[in-house]
Amino acid sequence: IEASSKEVWTLEKVKQTLPRREQHSHKGSHGKGLIIGGTKTMPGAARLTANAALRSGAGLLTVATSQEALPVVASGVTEATFLDLDDEQIDLLAEIKSFDAIAIGMGMGRSDQTQLIVDTVLTSEKPVVVDADGLFYLKNRLSELKNRKAPTILTPHPGEMAMLIDQSIEQIKNNPFEIAKSFAVKHQLYLVLKGAYTIVTAPNGYQTINQTGNPALAKGGSGDCLAGIILAQVMQKGTIEASLANACYIHGLAADLAVEKDHSMIDFLATDLINFLPKAFRTCL
Ligand code: APR
Ligand code: MG
Repeated sequence: IEASSKEVWTLEKVKQTLPRREQHSHKGSHGKGLIIGGTKTMPGAARLTANAALRSGAGLLTVATSQEALPVVASGVTEATFLDLDDEQIDLLAEIKSFDAIAIGMGMGRSDQTQLIVDTVLTSEKPVVVDADGLFYLKNRLSELKNRKAPTILTPHPGEMAMLIDQSIEQIKNNPFEIAKSFAVKHQLYLVLKGAYTIVTAPNGYQTINQTGNPALAKGGSGDCLAGIILAQVMQKGTIEASLANACYIHGLAADLAVEKDHSMIDFLATDLINFLPKAFRTCL
């Protein structure tokens, strides 16, 4: 792949690169994912991420959330197991060792505990997806990210991107490709800069542009779903570049299929996005 190249990610590309499940695969072949997020006032975010990951191919899934959020999250996610982040018996760094990839930050809230958990996760040698409140605390560790031994994936919306680089949203909107590239190359990370056209940038500067999706997604919870789809795809066999581009494509396609017949852009919810993932994946296989 040319470091300087930039391409629109098409259905054809998705069909070429989306990993299929092999005849003799088992749940271990498809990744053991850990989602860290959700708090008393934002349990829904963790639920959405978890259900999106489960509908996107994850083999096994655990959700680590606050004690107060745990019953609410667990009651909405049947196929996962759970960890109580407030349980002092738990050694998070030791726990992390048994997972293949981690997504952190969705509805996590801002507290010293969040900083501590973000720091712990970043010291691991596992692929990490950082979103939402996780990005706020990751900012304090930006200079260390290039030393990580596994991929670091950031999924900011323009406001979060502005926070990370101390620029205005306006500046980012005027020059998204260049800003995304210089940031990803400088810190050696994968950047998913979200928007009506999401731009995925690799540490070598290679960029893909996603064209699926519509304004039905302009609602709280859409981003949490994307984090889950990304987590699941990153754990499948395939390059990180393709996994991220495919996740963005499928996320947008689910919303496009939903508003084609069953929904309007007005009523569509993030929960509906998860319910349209089956149709989106079937379109892409
Ligand atoms: N067209 C296509 N895609 C869109 C559009 C659009 N008009 N609007 C939004 N999207 C997609 C984005 O590309 C992204 O994937 O929906 C998703 C929105 O993600 P976020 O902005 O992270 O939204 P979300 O996290 O669900 O919002 C909940 O979290 O980060 C905080 O401040 C944020 O309060 C908000 C909360
Ligand atoms: Mg978000």
